[in-house]
Amino acid sequence: MRDSEPRPAELDPIERASIDELRAVQVERLRWALRHAYGNVPHHRSAFDAAGVRPEDFREPADLARFPFTRKSDLRDSYPFGMFAVPREQVARLHASSGTTGRPTVVGYTAQDVRTWSRLMARSIRAAGGRPGDRVHVAYGYGLFTGGLGAHYGAEELGCTVIPVSGGMTERQVMLIRDFAPDVIMVTPTYFLAIVDEMLRQGVDPRGTSLRVGIFGAEPWTEDMRAEIEQRTGVHAIDIYGLSEVMGPGVAVECVETKDGLHVWEDHFYPEIVDPQTGAVLPDGERGELVFTSLTRQAMPVVRYRTGDLTRLLPGTARPMRRIEKITGRTDDMIILRGVNLFPTQIEELILRTPALSPHFQCVLTRAGRLDALTVRVERRPDAEAAAGRRAGAALAEAVKNTIGVSVAVEVIEPDGVERSLGKMRRIVDRRHEPA
Ligand code: DLL
Repeated sequence: MRDSEPRPAELDPIERASIDELRAVQVERLRWALRHAYGNVPHHRSAFDAAGVRPEDFREPADLARFPFTRKSDLRDSYPFGMFAVPREQVARLHASSGTTGRPTVVGYTAQDVRTWSRLMARSIRAAGGRPGDRVHVAYGYGLFTGGLGAHYGAEELGCTVIPVSGGMTERQVMLIRDFAPDVIMVTPTYFLAIVDEMLRQGVDPRGTSLRVGIFGAEPWTEDMRAEIEQRTGVHAIDIYGLSEVMGPGVAVECVETKDGLHVWEDHFYPEIVDPQTGAVLPDGERGELVFTSLTRQAMPVVRYRTGDLTRLLPGTARPMRRIEKITGRTDDMIILRGVNLFPTQIEELILRTPALSPHFQCVLTRAGRLDALTVRVERRPDAEAAAGRRAGAALAEAVKNTIGVSVAVEVIEPDGVERSLGKMRRIVDRRHEPA
């Protein structure tokens, strides 16, 4: 792997600031953001009033705990434009997050918001090891989803040659990688695996492509998955995080030189970790639910937005900004099986430690009587014999029992048996409410 560490002169000044300087910027921006939200969004005004707080009550970051949370349901209730803080004519862009059921959540951006997002994505791509002049293949979906356009504007801002492929047509993805020779690919990690499988099918050596860096996000993935991807392809596998409600991709990203968790761009987003049940703020280092307050967003400020994502805050390393640990899962992705909590990422880790099994898997939940059961459907690797696959399945069930402490069924299926995602992979298939 080529060295991609940026030189200090290439960084934004705030990426080299002291923690005190960073805190001062945050306090000043938080003051503005709370006033902006209270003054211009009826929802925030009534929520602040109900909690008995005014923007003036904010003096230092610890005061934020007195302010009310914003939840996804608040955004849904104000569908489509009720959370906007500027007249609709000043909204230059709309995006929406899919939402598995019902109405999508709508987000708006002023022209300035789009510029800020582009700059933060440029900063993120650079932190991941991308450079001006690089060719960037964007395979995140374009459209209302923030992945494609977010990556696109950021790569353009950094001065790259952007290849806006979007998701799908996997054969063509491989052809374009071969012919256009990109340095960087931006894509969900599961779809990247599908592209790598397609390379093998076409007789292309995944280690022999032009790709140097992969910027993977939009879904949880583990350190074991990083090792798998890096070993199979030779690219730096970098984690990028974000969510539409807070901006889109580029809220936090890993630095290629350390790969030790994702630096939150704290000059634009103030992170907190709270207890998912009680909402109490937890100290840095403790695991809980990630909450964000936007510091600079004009069109749609969010105050203490409950992301549902579970992680913890760690001190900065390659940058002064704090890091989040790789996301383990979401509060609503947690499977509770006979009283034991488990996340698909834990299954992913164990699968990747079982040599004959591939990382293509799904967790299928069923219910017999009042008892929930989990079946892990996982493909054997193409180079493993069927018998080896069966033994690996038994070993996986044993490993789940020993490390997570619950019995699951494992069904090892043929290669290509699990439906490939073109974007976010659906890891959990819930059949509990279907007739048996
Ligand atoms: O997924 C934005 C994005 C696009 C991020 C491309 C990174 C790359 P949403 O569709 O609103 O936005 O989904 C946001 O996806 O709350 C997390 O649960 C999950 N997620 C996003 N990035 C990661 C990641 C985009 N790196 C939701 N690790 C978030 C784990 C992630 N989960």
